[in-house]
Amino acid sequence: MTVGGFFGDEGKGKIIAYLAKKDNPAIAVRGGVGPNAGHTFAFEGKEYKVRMLPSAALNPTTRLLVGAGVLVNPQVLLSEVAMFKAEDRTYVDAQCGIIEQAHIDRDRAEDHLKGKIGTTGTGTGPANADRALRTLKMAKDVPELSLYIEDVSNSVNYALESGEKVLVEGTQGTYLSLFHGGYPYVTSKDVTASGICSDVGIGPKRVDDVLVVFKAYVTRVGGGPLDNELSEEEAKKRGWLEFGSVTGRQRRAAPFDFALAKKSIRLNSATQLAVTKLDIMFPSCARVRQYEKLPADARKYIEDIEGELGVPVTMIGTGPELDDVVDRRKTT
Ligand code: IMP
Ligand code: MG
Repeated sequence: MTVGGFFGDEGKGKIIAYLAKKDNPAIAVRGGVGPNAGHTFAFEGKEYKVRMLPSAALNPTTRLLVGAGVLVNPQVLLSEVAMFKAEDRTYVDAQCGIIEQAHIDRDRAEDHLKGKIGTTGTGTGPANADRALRTLKMAKDVPELSLYIEDVSNSVNYALESGEKVLVEGTQGTYLSLFHGGYPYVTSKDVTASGICSDVGIGPKRVDDVLVVFKAYVTRVGGGPLDNELSEEEAKKRGWLEFGSVTGRQRRAAPFDFALAKKSIRLNSATQLAVTKLDIMFPSCARVRQYEKLPADARKYIEDIEGELGVPVTMIGTGPELDDVVDRRKTT
């Protein structure tokens, strides 16, 4: 299972796309809120973004599942299915909630959501509110999705019982959790590892590994506190200025935050860490795929993180291509 350790946008998409290629899982299943998350990965010079499908979409033999806890925007899902030619390997749970235009309109009209919280405007908050009221439409009630409906928790548990590899993809990040983030500047659900288990319908003891993904620095979009936030000018100077993959909004930036990382490791019961975008901090890391070939200052950065946090950094991102990874896992 892979989850975000900060405020989303840690680079989970690229790590998952790499794992999907390298480990060839039978199933990749997406948890998290819904199409408010955009996961990005690049392969052979082409950039892909997924807001509904798992980031394993390029592996033609991996089944792509969306868990019951995830909200589905049918239009977004169907366009991604077509883009990846994944008609015969995409399945959404019968009980995925459906986002309709009215949810999007509400998300974008409200001063509170759009103005104060700075939501992505994708309708997820209002849809989850309707779900709590038990008035939300379910995937099983949408004819255009009928070919893709499945009992996803059943498929995932059956695969695990059969000894098959399952890659579970969390979205957003720990500090956007409705329960554990800085309320009210959070998303509309819990997005820690426990929440992701619930989204896809597995019990906590089924998870072998929780890979918490941190970026080498911290970014955040929308409102809410960000300790040691850099000025726009300073972020630009350091090359940390980023733009949101769903909304295009400029991301706020700050240095790596050990206190947040420590708490995140506990909230998610991390067994491994990934640190992405090391090449942005240390340009001579770009595209390096062997740990020994990283420059000494970059290795020290990683070793400081491991020393401080007490969890091994098993994956290091060194570029946008899904293969631009230092993979330090002992077994795969
Ligand atoms: P919502 O999830 O669209 O309701 O937005 C609530 C807050 O979570 C806003 O600050 C969004 O910018 C943030 N957010 C939601 N999803 C993501 C994500 O995938 N990456 C980064 N920020 C996100
Ligand atoms: Mg993102």
